[in-house]
Amino acid sequence: MFAEKITIMAEELYIPTGNDKEKIYTALLPQIKSLTEHESDLIANLANVTAVLKEAFNFFWVGFYFVKEEELVLGPFQGPLACTRIKKGKGVCGSAWRDKKTYVVPDVEQFPGHIACSSLSQSEIVIPLFTPDNNVWGVMDIDSELLNTFDYIDEKYLEEICYNIISPLFLA
Ligand code: SME
Repeated sequence: MFAEKITIMAEELYIPTGNDKEKIYTALLPQIKSLTEHESDLIANLANVTAVLKEAFNFFWVGFYFVKEEELVLGPFQGPLACTRIKKGKGVCGSAWRDKKTYVVPDVEQFPGHIACSSLSQSEIVIPLFTPDNNVWGVMDIDSELLNTFDYIDEKYLEEICYNIISPLFLA
C-alpha cells in the first residue's frame, strides 16, 4: 500500500543581490502579486508578504494590524513579540489609521506617543490599507533597529504594494 504522493510547490523568491533597494522592490512587486493573486485566504497571503519583506530586507519587524471595532489587533507578522492591541490615534499605527496616511518615522523617540513594542526598534514606517470606499481596514507596520531606515523609496514601493496588491485582498 503506497501513500498518495503529494507535491507541495514552494514559492521560490528571487531577490537581487546588492543594496539597491529600488531594484529589490522592483523585483519583489510582481512576485508578491503572483504569490497572492491565486490565493483567496487573507491571512495566508499577508503571512507570505511579511516573509517576503523580511527575507528581502531583513527588517527587524514586519507585520499587519487589523481594524476591529475601535482598535487595531495584531495580525500576521515576522519578528519579535508585539503589542496585540492599539487604540485609534495611538502610536504610529493608530495615527496612520486615524489620519489615513503613511507615516515615515526616522527616529521613534521623536514621535509623540510612539508605542515601543520593542526597545530595539528605532525607526518605522506604517501604511494604511484601504477599502474601495476609503475606509481603513488595517495597517502594514515595518520597524528597523537602525535610525533613518525608511525614505521616499520605501514609501513609494510599500504604498504601491499596500494600495494595489494588499488592500484589494481584503474583499477578494
Ligand atoms: N511602534 C508601533 C507599535 C507596533 S510595533 O512596533 C510592532 C506604534 O507606535 O504604533
